[in-house]
Amino acid sequence: MRFIHVTCFDDWRAEARALLSNEISPADVHWSPEDNQPGLFDQPHQKKTGETAQDERPNASVQDTQSRFTVPSPFLELARQVACHRSPTRWQLLYQTLWRLVHGERRLLEMTTDDDVLLLQRMRKAVTRDVHKMKAFVRFRKIETDDQSESYIAWHRPDHFIMRLAAPFFQRRFKGMSWTILTSHESAHWDQHQLTYGPGLPASEAPNADALEGLWKTYYASIFNPARIKVDMMKREMPVRHWPTLPEATLIDDLIRDAPARVTEMIKNHEGFSETGMHYLPAQQDLESLRQAVVGCQACDLCHDATQSVFGVGPEDARMVLVGEQPGEREDIAGEPFVGPAGELLNASLRDAGIDRQAVYLTNVVKHFKFERRGKRRLHKKPDSREIYACRPWLESEIAALKPQTVICLGATAAQALLGRDFRLSQQRGHIQKTQWSEQTIATWHPAAILRMPDENRKREMVNQLVTDLKRCAEVVQ
Ligand code: URA
Repeated sequence: MRFIHVTCFDDWRAEARALLSNEISPADVHWSPEDNQPGLFDQPHQKKTGETAQDERPNASVQDTQSRFTVPSPFLELARQVACHRSPTRWQLLYQTLWRLVHGERRLLEMTTDDDVLLLQRMRKAVTRDVHKMKAFVRFRKIETDDQSESYIAWHRPDHFIMRLAAPFFQRRFKGMSWTILTSHESAHWDQHQLTYGPGLPASEAPNADALEGLWKTYYASIFNPARIKVDMMKREMPVRHWPTLPEATLIDDLIRDAPARVTEMIKNHEGFSETGMHYLPAQQDLESLRQAVVGCQACDLCHDATQSVFGVGPEDARMVLVGEQPGEREDIAGEPFVGPAGELLNASLRDAGIDRQAVYLTNVVKHFKFERRGKRRLHKKPDSREIYACRPWLESEIAALKPQTVICLGATAAQALLGRDFRLSQQRGHIQKTQWSEQTIATWHPAAILRMPDENRKREMVNQLVTDLKRCAEVVQ
């Protein structure tokens, strides 16, 4: 048995790589179960020595030989977040999953019914939610420093070890000020040049001076997203009885009143609030709340030139979801997906497959029309990976709200977004599989690609294949 202590993702990754290179099975590794986050007197990243004999430690006994395996990048992204979860079992779970991924279960993460995957997804969700809460509830206070310069300090009590996930957000937002955020496990410090991390501080040491209302009000007004005002939700998240004691509460009336004007201003000023749509998601993620919130999304630049966001349409209890690439010119104007020529072909194909269009939910990977101007014309342009990534939280939330039995990816963009970047439509079209999105997920031709096909015979063949794929899905759904 090998005993390993790690305190952060980078340490875990280095250890896991060494273990894997040496084919050490998860059953032979004991990841330290105690809370290893750095304490007040630890150096960050310093490994605790514990009571393990020197020769049992992987650093001593396992050589990190040349890696012979590749790790899917979605796993690394997931692992980076799960590593911030408070659970002492996270390192073991991550290594076990990594082991399975490189030992023949490469598509493991798509198996949402798998116990390990389910647990990892739950942990990731808890961490993400905690990061959101930190962004929303950190309150800075002004402190006097020795050199009379201004500095700000905040104490926050997250549920998980999320400082490093959240701190870059505060760095961007408060670039021109020096600040420190303290939590019990770690602190972050920004001196207007560099972001550094230090040990945590017990709650008893948290500052209680009360001089930071000005900054906080500025901050609150800047994160207040008028496109997602939900007064009921605000009351729930920030109970009214606390409003008198919160500096920002005096702003709420003004902000609510000015909201529509601010949406327009935000769009005009290119105020980028975050890197993905995640920051714009409403607290309640039913379809109607999502539809209202997406209007204010500026997670990528497409929102500036498109007429409007185009969210999905269809009944909330739809069992089948069809995902296209992005709205086209007609959809951009109408504000509804698949109302143009591609939509007509899709309607005909659904009909031929015996599927009622009114019973299915239609949406796109990207919610804004991307185009290039040629004179008066606006020519469709493929969304790039940054735009797809930025928009992903909307699609994921739609699917999570619908819980469909079938997800049909129309075309390569949707297929690669939901089934992985390696997905090849020409080779894997029509193959039904169970994924994290639905019991049966399938990719087939995009009607717009069929319309662009110059060879008439091939075009007919593609239409037939589209109808056949739809039909097969429909048979299982009914
Ligand atoms: N193409 C798409 O991918 N989606 C639409 O909504 C319209 C055309």
